[in-house]
Amino acid sequence: MTKPDLMMLHDLRPRAMVQVEAAYTVHRWDRADDPAAFLAAHGAACRALATNGHVPLTREMLTAMPKLGIVACASAGFEGFDLAALAERGIALTNTSAALCDDVADTAILLLLAARRGLVGADAYVRSGEWVREGMYPLQRRVAGTRLGIVGLGTIGQAIARRAEVFGLQIAFWNRSAKTTPWRQVADLVTLARECDHLVVALAGGPATRGIISREVIEALGPEGLLVNVSRGSTVDQEALIEALAAGRLGHAGLDVFEEEPTAEPRLVALRNVTLYPHHASGTVETRDAMAQLVVDNLAAFFAGRPLLTPVDLAGYVPRAGD
Ligand code: DGY
Repeated sequence: MTKPDLMMLHDLRPRAMVQVEAAYTVHRWDRADDPAAFLAAHGAACRALATNGHVPLTREMLTAMPKLGIVACASAGFEGFDLAALAERGIALTNTSAALCDDVADTAILLLLAARRGLVGADAYVRSGEWVREGMYPLQRRVAGTRLGIVGLGTIGQAIARRAEVFGLQIAFWNRSAKTTPWRQVADLVTLARECDHLVVALAGGPATRGIISREVIEALGPEGLLVNVSRGSTVDQEALIEALAAGRLGHAGLDVFEEEPTAEPRLVALRNVTLYPHHASGTVETRDAMAQLVVDNLAAFFAGRPLLTPVDLAGYVPRAGD
């Protein structure tokens, strides 16, 4: 039996690669010397595409794959995709938020605790011998009983809220649409920032959320406030963030994501009141395996005519006429 053709813009974890190679004729665009010529030669045969949200997927590329029915994305984010072109063609999109939400939520809490308790500085304090020379490390700030604002209460935001409850935090959130939850929804981001000690950003990236954590939001969080970002660097006004941190108008930032990656802005990296992580919130063996397996399982469901496991509702991302 002939195997269906699968275009791959990014590789998968080894166990998942074995499965796709067994099930499909795999076309490795990611290994092509001339990607455009490769797509022109093999795109027409492909009904499916496996990729990662960090690889751009343009309208022009989609045009070279006229039979495409599914884009199986091995990440939560997909801001580099032409979503309007996908929606117009009725091409299904799947992602992996369901597989990575626990790790990303853990990382949000990790950054919050590390920032609040001065973990990075404390580690250096022990290693450098300063503890011996200077005595007790400066007192830090308690987490229990403080107020957390979550920006974006999707799968990841909810996983953060559940963890934060265990740490004794009071939770409020902002979300584009109304949500029925045990937590308090606040309609305005500046108000949320003003009313909390820490703001954790867990929104999808892309044009709709660019700069949503504005200068006003950052300043409302204030000199004692902490901003944690596990979404995309684009959601935060980076210039305003750097200025506020440098001037002490924002207390601290815990960042897993940056406007430019991996060359994070040097003025940001130089600041002492920033705790940094290299866009690695989902970077565990278990989760990366689970994300890759979800790609394999979504492709299998598509070709078997079964419901997709983790479809993305494109209507929530593509503006309609009049919006
Ligand atoms: C995601 O899944 O979108 C993460 O940022 C890792 O790429």
